[in-house]
Amino acid sequence: MPQLIAANWKMNGRLDWVDKVGELAALTGEAVCERLICPPHPLVGAMARAAQGSGIAIGAQDCSEHEAGAHTGETEAALLAALGARYVILGHSERRTGGETDDRVKAKAERAVGSGLRPLVCVGESLAEREAGTAIPVVEAQLSGSLPQQGDYDIAYEPVWAIGTGRTATARDVAEMHAAIRRHVGVGPRILYGGSVKPDNAALLLGVPEVGGALVGGASLEMESFAQIVHAAKAD
Ligand code: 13P
Repeated sequence: MPQLIAANWKMNGRLDWVDKVGELAALTGEAVCERLICPPHPLVGAMARAAQGSGIAIGAQDCSEHEAGAHTGETEAALLAALGARYVILGHSERRTGGETDDRVKAKAERAVGSGLRPLVCVGESLAEREAGTAIPVVEAQLSGSLPQQGDYDIAYEPVWAIGTGRTATARDVAEMHAAIRRHVGVGPRILYGGSVKPDNAALLLGVPEVGGALVGGASLEMESFAQIVHAAKAD
C-alpha cells in the first residue's frame, strides 16, 4: 500500500481553510502517496466537497461509539461518512489524556468500520513509560484493547513526549517500535509515525522499515510545509 501522509489539524481552522485542499492539490499533484486532511468536524463536509476529484481524502478527528440518539455533543460516524469523510482518527493521546479508554476507542473503531470509515487508531507511550523501559508493552496493551475486531484500519504510533515538542523519536526507536507493532497486528494495517514530523526530518522517518506514513500536527497547518512532507513519502 502507498504511504499515508495525514494532517491532523486538531482544533485549528476557519471557514477559509477549506481553500487549503486546492492549495495542497496544486502543490502535490504528482504525489505517490495517499494524502489525508482531518479538519475539525464543522469543516468536514465542505472540505470533502472541495476535495472531490483531487485524490485528497478527508477524515475526522473523532466519532461517537453510539448510533444516532440522545448523545448531546457527540458526532455519529455514519453522519461523517455521509458528509464525505473516509477516515477517522481515534484514540489520539490528547483524547486519551482526557479519559478516553481503550474500550471506548475500540467501540468507536467498530462503529466507524460499520459506518464505512477507516479508523486511524493512535497508540503511544508517555515519557515516564519510555524511561521505565515499558514503551513496547504499553503500546502492545493499547493495541490489544483498542483495535477493532474486524474491518480495515491503520495505526499511528505517536510517542506522547514527541507530540508538539519538536522532539522526535530516533530512527532506531521508531524501527524497534514499528517492528513490535507489526509482530502484534500481523500484515495489513499501515503503521504511521507521528510526533514532530517536519519537512526536515520526514524523509528519514518515512524511510524507516515498517513506517507506512506520517500523522502530522503542527507542520500540517501550512500547505507549503505539509506538501514537503508529502513529497518525502514513498510509493510503497
Ligand atoms: P505534532 O506534529 O505537532 O507534534 O503533532 C503530532 C500529532 O499529535 C498528530 O496527531
